[in-house]
Amino acid sequence: MDAIVALAKRRGFIFQSSEIYGGLTGFFDYGPLGVELKKNIRDCWWNDMVRRREDIVGLESSIIMHPKVWEASGHVAGFTDPLVDCKVSKQRYRADQLFFAPVVVDGKTVGHVSALESEKTTEDLQAAAESFKRKKAIQGTLAPVQPRDMTEARPEEIALIPSPATGEPGSLTEPRAFNMMFETHVGPMRDSASVAYLRPETAQGMFADFRNVVDTGRVKLPFGIAQIGKSFRNEITPRNFIFRSREFEQMEMEYFIHPDADWLACHEEWLKWCREWLMSIGLPDSHLSLHEHPKAKLAFYSRRTVDIMFRYPFGVQELWGIAARSDYDLQQHQKFSGVPQVYFDEATKQKVVPHVIEPAVGVDRILLAVLCAGYAEEDVKDEKGNVEKRTVLRLSPRVAPIKVAVLPLLKNKEALVSRARELHARLKRRYAVFYDEAGAIGRRYRRQDEIGTPWCVTIDFDTIEKDGTFTLRDRDSMQQRRITEAELIALLDEKVY
Ligand code: GAP
Repeated sequence: MDAIVALAKRRGFIFQSSEIYGGLTGFFDYGPLGVELKKNIRDCWWNDMVRRREDIVGLESSIIMHPKVWEASGHVAGFTDPLVDCKVSKQRYRADQLFFAPVVVDGKTVGHVSALESEKTTEDLQAAAESFKRKKAIQGTLAPVQPRDMTEARPEEIALIPSPATGEPGSLTEPRAFNMMFETHVGPMRDSASVAYLRPETAQGMFADFRNVVDTGRVKLPFGIAQIGKSFRNEITPRNFIFRSREFEQMEMEYFIHPDADWLACHEEWLKWCREWLMSIGLPDSHLSLHEHPKAKLAFYSRRTVDIMFRYPFGVQELWGIAARSDYDLQQHQKFSGVPQVYFDEATKQKVVPHVIEPAVGVDRILLAVLCAGYAEEDVKDEKGNVEKRTVLRLSPRVAPIKVAVLPLLKNKEALVSRARELHARLKRRYAVFYDEAGAIGRRYRRQDEIGTPWCVTIDFDTIEKDGTFTLRDRDSMQQRRITEAELIALLDEKVY
């Protein structure tokens, strides 16, 4: 992961926000290549989800909405994470990410150990229990630890659990609900009447505008409303680079279906669609898996949720949540606004409140997955046969920030440079292309490999003196072949869509 974070900074994909002031935890900036990559992910999703379908329309709703929206949706009361404070170190933890276990020797509890959630929480707790027993010189047989998280701690246990910050018990508080919505004020008065929220999800925009879209959009059930936009959550523990941040971007689609429709079949269809879409932008199926939320842990609005998980270097984590939200949201908005949230069903001549299937994904999480899946370091031979290390980002041409690099073989040969400039100018009308004449050709290839450019085109003496063809160098195979301009355009047309 460190190598990916370093590359992201070094090559201008992702920077820490406000870095010159020491940064702000949970906020990030996208540099010149990062914005291109992010835009391409968004564009692919928008084209496939909205433009290339006939049953889905787009929307861009405001980030700050009427505060009643969030009362109706349940976010004011229920969008909370359990928070635990360490009174000594002032550190804060998400209770469901802070694990503990009694240390049991010969059937007797002799102390407690704690560890933050990781891929190996149980091993960490076991090692901590062994160390505890050793330090206290306790004789006897240590039982295997039985980890629980802090939300499951009994009140009398809390004082006995050591803080991960100090290693000592007695400073952790009981878990309390912490609302993750960022508050602000609308207008000049800063009182309770002016409180508003930065949206924690884009979804509510689609519900609040449901009637507007039905009345103006000529839509017929089943149909979807899609939106891409920023969301904000005051996460207790933002972590893993851009995986969990406080400002992030979501791509959400609310698919409205008739209340009598087979919602389970529709849910399955969207699961399949989303997984295939992730593969279409280059994520390998081997890195993807499904996680069905247990009934007891479903979000307050959900009837069924399945997450598409991705194997990140820091563990298998949620990438895309596909939830069956029933008619919860429309019913709530109908109740709170007093405005009927109904659809007139021509077939039965009845007004119905549609149900919803919602695929909701974070752009930043996809971008991180794309970087992680594409990153590779390998030993290759240079022109002289010496082995050197090559860092390569194997990005799909659909999302790669630069599609082609145009390289004149030599920068001091006017004919090569002017032909390269001409090709560059033509390609850049349709694609993000890069012109580079500085340095040895091998070096220039390596620079493009590192930022994920699928192809380099070299303008050489054969181009200007013989048949007009270029050398096309493929990033992944490093194979080179001659190609005409028409073939190059056809290749781009086929692979970049
Ligand atoms: N409308 C439903 C909803 O927002 P969610 O599971 O809370 O559901 C959907 O969020 C997706 O948004 C997640 O699967 C994830 O990809 C992304 N996401 C959520 N919180 C995030 C955060 N703090 N940072 C980055 N991405 C986040």
